[in-house]
Amino acid sequence: MPSVSSKEVTMPDNLAVQIEDLSISYKINIEAKKTLKNALMRASRGERIRTKTVEAVKNLSLDVPHGSVLGIVGANGAGKSTLMRSIAGILPPTSGRILVNGKISTLLALGVGFNKALSGRDNIILGGLAAGMSRDEIESKTETIAQFADLPNGFIDMPVRTYSSGMYGRVAFSVAVNMTPDILLVDEALSAGDAAFKEKSFNKIRELCQEARTILIVSHALSSLNELCDQAIWMHRGQMLDSGKPEEITDKYLKFLNVGELPSSYEDL
Ligand SMILES: Nc1ncnc2c1ncn2[C@@H]1O[C@H](COP(=O)(O)OP(=O)(O)OP(=O)(O)O)[C@@H](O)[C@H]1O
Ligand SMILES: [Mg+2]
Repeated sequence: MPSVSSKEVTMPDNLAVQIEDLSISYKINIEAKKTLKNALMRASRGERIRTKTVEAVKNLSLDVPHGSVLGIVGANGAGKSTLMRSIAGILPPTSGRILVNGKISTLLALGVGFNKALSGRDNIILGGLAAGMSRDEIESKTETIAQFADLPNGFIDMPVRTYSSGMYGRVAFSVAVNMTPDILLVDEALSAGDAAFKEKSFNKIRELCQEARTILIVSHALSSLNELCDQAIWMHRGQMLDSGKPEEITDKYLKFLNVGELPSSYEDL
């Protein structure tokens, strides 16, 4: 039976994440319309609901040492977010095993988990509670996080549903990076907010990298990955196609995309 972690299984001390032969499939219902008529017609023909299985991650094995910064590249639909969600424990493996050693903080789809009726500040407190922080810790952190998000005109005390997507991104980013995680998972969040906040968030990530925290970053901002990461992997159709030094991997990936090494393809900051 697949499991995210198991008491009997131990992992080497130097590793933050150990992934063994991981596969994750999604089962999709491909029925055109879920109507009673369709269901009756199907039943009269003796048919079952048609489903399709998408293998989003296939036989992937990966060791991530403590203190390393791993970049993950790959085309849309390659399985990057699926991999991140499974490491975060949100998505169980279909087969294989994921072991994690440390406190995880995630920055997956921006702001997922925010309660839109509550203010930004209340969501920060909720985030702290969810991360298992004590009351004192949360109190001391809330102001830091609110200040880091630096929303205009008292927006931090307004309901999150009134936020622009950039404001949303700012708060989500601030919460994730200020929870002092051992392992930080960042999925496409380097571009949260406007140019000023992008620079600030990039610097914060760089700071965390220097604090020897373990960070996994999914991004299409290849030059950022080259600067931040000490290792990179290239995912292609659910599989790990290549791994190595970030420059080598992003270079190969760019060539594959047939874009060349034009400065414009190094978008981001
Ligand atoms: N909830 C879901 N249900 C069904 N299929 C899904 C689901 N989420 C992702 N998939 C499929 O799994 C595959 C991998 O998707 P995933 O989101 O992991 O890709 P990605 O590498 O993060 O892509 P992107 O660069 O666009 O973010 C795709 O074929 C996608 O269609
Ligand atoms: Mg994705």
